[in-house]
Amino acid sequence: MSGLDLVIAGGTVVTAADTYAADIGIRDGRIAQIGHNLSGADRIDATGLLVLPGGIDAHVHLDQPTSDGTTMADDFASGTRSAAAGGNTTVLPFALQIRGQSLRACVEDYHRKAQGNCHTDVSFHLIVSDPTPQVLGQELPALVRDGYTSFKVFMTYDDLVLNDAQILDVFEVARRERALVMVHAEGHDAIRHLTRRLEAEGRTAPYYHGQAHAQIAEREATHRAISHAQLIDVPVVIVHVSGRDPMEQIQWARARGLKVHAETCPQYITLTADDLRGLDMDFDGARYVCSPPPRDADSQAAIWQGLRDGTFDIFSSDHCPFRIDATGKDTPRARSSFKYVPNGIPGVETRLPILFSEGVSKGRISLQRFVALTSTNPARLYGLYPQKGSIAIGADADLTLWDPTLTRQIRQADLNHGCDYTPYEGLQITGWPVRTLLRGQTIAQDGRPCGDPQGAHLARGTSEAFAP
Ligand code: URP
Ligand code: ZN
Ligand code: ZN
Ligand code: ZN
Repeated sequence: MSGLDLVIAGGTVVTAADTYAADIGIRDGRIAQIGHNLSGADRIDATGLLVLPGGIDAHVHLDQPTSDGTTMADDFASGTRSAAAGGNTTVLPFALQIRGQSLRACVEDYHRKAQGNCHTDVSFHLIVSDPTPQVLGQELPALVRDGYTSFKVFMTYDDLVLNDAQILDVFEVARRERALVMVHAEGHDAIRHLTRRLEAEGRTAPYYHGQAHAQIAEREATHRAISHAQLIDVPVVIVHVSGRDPMEQIQWARARGLKVHAETCPQYITLTADDLRGLDMDFDGARYVCSPPPRDADSQAAIWQGLRDGTFDIFSSDHCPFRIDATGKDTPRARSSFKYVPNGIPGVETRLPILFSEGVSKGRISLQRFVALTSTNPARLYGLYPQKGSIAIGADADLTLWDPTLTRQIRQADLNHGCDYTPYEGLQITGWPVRTLLRGQTIAQDGRPCGDPQGAHLARGTSEAFAP
């Protein structure tokens, strides 16, 4: 049988379950055959390469306004080009509700920003910063039915923080509508207390951001989020978990059968609080300021254990890029105190190479775990499976061809993001994506995006976190 548009021939197919040699036949943008000696109108020789389900980065910030007027370094065009070059075929950015704004208007705003500009598929999570009766009673239920099946709530940040009563309200809507809530778990009052104390002592350099956002505050908020989820009986994802202490809370919850899922990110296996020192406790440390901040060697070891043993379901970038210049991090206010440094670092393009190299190439995790953490589990958890996240007949032909032997350093000069630095400059990587295909079309090759933006917005189904 033929009629195939394209065959990926001679590669090693890797899924979350298996590794095997096979050709993949693509028709009309979907996987139509998996077998041997396939032929079609077109052919890509994948000899010596791994064929992976396209990366799904489930935590990406693009073109978000900030409360102090600094601009994010990536819009939907540059952010998704960067994602494609890094082996991703789908990203899940946020539609951030500004207080006073209708959530529906907010979503439409982000659609306008994304429309016609995306090189990968995209689908929005909703950030709920103003859970009014209208938002809780009408807008969220309607939006979930339209395929926006995940929300994020914040336990810190002045302009986003919800109090416990509000979090419980959002959890209740999520339970009723079967939406998955992502929680930014850091205790706001503890952070503010530590911030005031550090500022009074004249400790205002970026390094002290890491001290103010103490791991104890993350642990406490993680436990509080878990307790609230238990009270309402709703599944949650604790996102960007930074270290051992919050992990222990997640493991405590799991041991009790609570439906608590967890995400971690590249910064927590590659960076430490010491990176925020910069050159000499100077402003250079601002390039590593993100929340939660990177911790220490002990937490890195704990995170690796959690990536192996299933404590973590997903590995996302938390790409949140600000340039290290006056348009981004380096403002007079930010120089006056760490608390004004925009939080976030770029990473959508380097997420997969970092986990592959530090994880698979160094023997810390299996290929199956790599695929599960970076593609299959994000698809399952966020209602995209089985259209996305696997290599199977009928699935979208979203594929990443990977050269496990290719070795080079991460260098800002080679990246495609809109940021002017990478926090991973000089990191030696073994294993890089060499070609990314979205629905059978090549969207990046050898580290460069190619072609016109073909990405679509995906309406999502219910999270598998609601499965019995
Ligand atoms: O510092 C970070 N991670 N900024 C992005 C916003 C968030 O909390 O995820
Ligand atoms: Zn967050
Ligand atoms: Zn889970
Ligand atoms: Zn984030």
